[in-house]
Amino acid sequence: MLDPRRGNAPDNATLIGFTNLRRARTSRPLVIEKGRGIFLIDENGREYIEGCSSFYSAALGFSEPELVEAAIRQMRQLPAYASGLYRTVPAALALGEKLAAMAPMANARVSFASTGSEANDFLIKFMRFRNAHRGEPQRVKIIARALSYHGATIATAPLGGFPGTARAFNLPMQDVITVSQPDYANNALAGEDEAAFTARMLAEIEQAIEQAGPDTVGAMILDPVSYSAGCIVPPAGYLNGLRTLLDRYGILLFDDEVITGFCRTGHMFASQTFGMRPDCMTLAKALSGAYFPISAIVMDGNFYDGLEQGSEKEGTFSHAATYGGHPVAAAVALRMIEIIEERDILGHVRKVAPRLQQLLASLTDHPMVFNIRSVGLGGAVQLHSRTDAVGARGQAMQEAMMAEGLLLRVVKDTINFAPPLIITQAEVEELFARFCRALETVQRAEHRA
Ligand SMILES: Cc1ncc(COP(=O)(O)O)c(C=O)c1O
Repeated sequence: MLDPRRGNAPDNATLIGFTNLRRARTSRPLVIEKGRGIFLIDENGREYIEGCSSFYSAALGFSEPELVEAAIRQMRQLPAYASGLYRTVPAALALGEKLAAMAPMANARVSFASTGSEANDFLIKFMRFRNAHRGEPQRVKIIARALSYHGATIATAPLGGFPGTARAFNLPMQDVITVSQPDYANNALAGEDEAAFTARMLAEIEQAIEQAGPDTVGAMILDPVSYSAGCIVPPAGYLNGLRTLLDRYGILLFDDEVITGFCRTGHMFASQTFGMRPDCMTLAKALSGAYFPISAIVMDGNFYDGLEQGSEKEGTFSHAATYGGHPVAAAVALRMIEIIEERDILGHVRKVAPRLQQLLASLTDHPMVFNIRSVGLGGAVQLHSRTDAVGARGQAMQEAMMAEGLLLRVVKDTINFAPPLIITQAEVEELFARFCRALETVQRAEHRA
């Protein structure tokens, strides 16, 4: 609806990100009003399949009554209270226990925040505190992979080295070491097999560490499957080799499971899918099914001990956030984890994921398709880029998919898939049918042009 006070042309007061701001201000965005399972309804009554779970977050879709009830119950009992100063709420304590028990690390401890960005940002801050108190205040640099995404804050936006973003926001890059994304399909040299590619990727990281000065590097952060880079699945041996390499230099491994956590890759956490041992892990999005903002930093006992020792020296651990451990957020997350267990969401993912993977693989020989990647209930179709305009096909797909009632995330000419975990096999087939119709539309339009 247009606001009559603003005349006929929209003039949205709300800034919508990842857009051209003027266009977003002066045109009506897609306004989603309702959700039902994997489906969304916009303000004009049009229906869409949300094939990427709304930024990979709404793991149980958009109408799970149990999560709503959990929020209402907690809202009625105690709708707000900040954790800090020796005070907290039962839901925060219970969720911490639960996550610590689930985490694939020894003697885990948990700290809460509200967003994935905050979790990664706080974790880096914790690392700096720990290292300073271990007598290594110079160990502040973070290794990140190009085109990975770890957040929007001043400390996390530089990680991933999106060159355009770093330049445009004039980001502080001095403590960031950017290395290649282990993207075999796009980054392998001519004739290079996967093993040789993996070895080269690891050698590049070792060289970057040596160049930066090994004792200045605190941690490497990685998203085990990088959706921001186009659903890049690590090549065999990469994550294990990386762990060995980082151990050799005393560098920590931070596992950003903000997207991959909670069943997406066919295990509770992607580190389990790939047999990787993290020192710390960050969680958000599916942690509460995205029904309430909450994120968690899960630290192994050794890392946590460093915080406790530093706190002993200082007399306090001078860190908290008003909404870190928010009672409603924690109650929703607790219920979310119970639902995952009660309904065997992992078992469901393992049942439907092969169908999604099979359908995506069926496009391998399509003339417009360059590469298919998938793991668990997620994947990507990378189209050949037009030589004259990288991203043009992706943009055309975006529009064609919208017309078919399908919302997927487009990264240049790659289209990512990560539907809500509750998707049924029939819905996977419907999603794919809409995608194929959009692909045909784009192909036909190119032939006409
Ligand atoms: C892997 C990863 N880490 C961190 C973040 C940041 O999370 P948030 O948007 O909740 O701050 C995102 C967001 O998409 C993400 O994909």
